[in-house]
Amino acid sequence: MLSQPFLLEDLHQLVDALAAALDAKSSYTLGHSERVADLALLIAERIGLNAEKQHLVHIGAHLHDIGKIGIPDEVLNKPGRLTEEQFAIIKQHPVIGYGIVSKVKSFSAITDIVRFHHERFDGKGYPDGLKGFKIPLGARIVAVADSFDAMTAPRIYRQCFTPAEALEEIRRCRGTQFDPEVADCFIAIMEKDDLWRPAMPAKTNVLFG
Ligand SMILES: [Fe+2]
Repeated sequence: MLSQPFLLEDLHQLVDALAAALDAKSSYTLGHSERVADLALLIAERIGLNAEKQHLVHIGAHLHDIGKIGIPDEVLNKPGRLTEEQFAIIKQHPVIGYGIVSKVKSFSAITDIVRFHHERFDGKGYPDGLKGFKIPLGARIVAVADSFDAMTAPRIYRQCFTPAEALEEIRRCRGTQFDPEVADCFIAIMEKDDLWRPAMPAKTNVLFG
């Protein structure tokens, strides 16, 4: 029995703890969930979601990859290219994450983000192949933020994109991989507001090709 009401702050700490569990398992993605959550919140604000929905997008973004906890270490942390079979295993993480987060019944906006963040606007994503506006908005937002961070974060086995190159890639994929409005919104935030993060890696920081 709780001695005091369950606070929003407690929920945030619980979410941070879950995200930290994933970071502990997969150190090469350290900080990814937090950066994606920050970027997703910026988009949610700019696109005009109300405060409650912004909050749900932020939490969902924190947890978007939580299903990777269920992926074997040798696949999740494998440097270099994955085999087709290994990639098929990785692709299970949205459904595994959905199974974890859906234990909390009132979290449907968050579970949508966890399950659908790898769907594509053209319907060629996974796990369900949802298309266009059938993909929940929170997941369309997190898809852009996730891709930007994945492209700009250094990996030991490949060179990362500069932020400008990653934005160009998002622009190129607007309407195919990404919701065009969400992509445009993100590009506008990053370009016009000059929100380059000091910690964001430059191409020259990466020693490995
Ligand atoms: Fe993911």
